[in-house]
Amino acid sequence: MQYTIAPLYCRPWTLNGISPRLIESHYENDYGNALDRLNSIAAELDALDLATTPAHVVSRLKRDEATALNSTLLHELYFASLGGDGRAVPEDMATAVTRDFGSVNRWRQEFTALADGLAGGSGWVLLTYMPRDGRLINHASAGHDQGLAGGIPILALDMYEHAYHQEFGANATAYIAAFMRNIDWNAVLTRYRDATKVAPPPRLEQKQFPDLPSISVEEVRSMLDAGQKVQIIDTRPRHYSTRAQDMMLGATWRDPEHVDEWIGELSKTDPVVTFCVYGFHIGCETAETLRKAGFDARYMAGGHYAWKAIKGAVKLLE
Ligand SMILES: [Fe+2]
Repeated sequence: MQYTIAPLYCRPWTLNGISPRLIESHYENDYGNALDRLNSIAAELDALDLATTPAHVVSRLKRDEATALNSTLLHELYFASLGGDGRAVPEDMATAVTRDFGSVNRWRQEFTALADGLAGGSGWVLLTYMPRDGRLINHASAGHDQGLAGGIPILALDMYEHAYHQEFGANATAYIAAFMRNIDWNAVLTRYRDATKVAPPPRLEQKQFPDLPSISVEEVRSMLDAGQKVQIIDTRPRHYSTRAQDMMLGATWRDPEHVDEWIGELSKTDPVVTFCVYGFHIGCETAETLRKAGFDARYMAGGHYAWKAIKGAVKLLE
C-alpha cells in the first residue's frame, strides 16, 4: 500500500502570529518526510517474504510503520486544526466541551497544561472523541506512538520543536498561545459531528433473553451503598462452587436447579438480582423464572466476574 499526500488544509497567510514560512517548512519537511518514510517502510513490508523473514525484523518494520503513519495522520490533523480565530467556539462545540470538561475555559486550561508539559520535549496534545462513552478527552503523547484505542482525534497540537523553534525559539508558551489563537473551531466541529456518527463498540447481546431486564454491577453497588433493600442471589451452579473461593458480599447462594425449594423465602416487594459466573445463562434463566412468578427480578450483567472486576466486596465461600 502506498499513501497519498494530503494538500495543506489551512491557509497559511491567514494565520495570526504563525508565519507561512514556518508552516511551509513544517509541511514540506516534517510532514513530507513522515509520509515518505511511511511509503518506503510500506514498500519494504510488501516485498518481505514472511515465511523466511525473522520475527524481529517484521516487528521492527511494523513498529516503524505505525510511528510514521501516526506522524503522517497527526500532522494532517494539525494543519487542519489551524486557520480560525481560536476564540469563537461554535455553540454545539461549546456544549459538547462544557458537558465533558465543565466549561470551555477548563478545557483550555487542561489542554494548554498538557502542552506546557511537553515544552522542550516532543509529542502531541490531542482532543479526542471516544465512541465507547460518547465523550471527549484531552490527552498527550510523548513521541508519535501513543493513541487511545478506538478514539477519533479532532484537534491536534504539534509540540515537537520543529513545529515552532524556527520562529519562537525556545518560547513554547508563545507558540502554544499562537496555536490557541488560530484554532479553526468550525473544522473541529465538523470533525466532532462526523466522529459522533461512529457507533460505540457493540454491547453483549443476549439473544436468548431479548426482553429480560438486566442491571449493571455499578448499579447494584450503588443500591447497596445507598442501603436500598435488594435480594441478591448467587445462582452459580452447585458443581461450580468446588472451584470458586469467594462470593459477592451481600449475596446468598441458591441452587439454580431447585428454584422451587427457595422461591418461597423471597419477598415480592423488594427487588431481586440474580447472577451466575459470567452473566450468560443461569442467572438469566433464574431471573426469568422469578419474573414469571411475579418477582421484580433482574440479572446482573457480567455476573460474578464483573462484580470482582469493579472490585466489589466479596466474602469467603463456605
Ligand atoms: Fe510536526
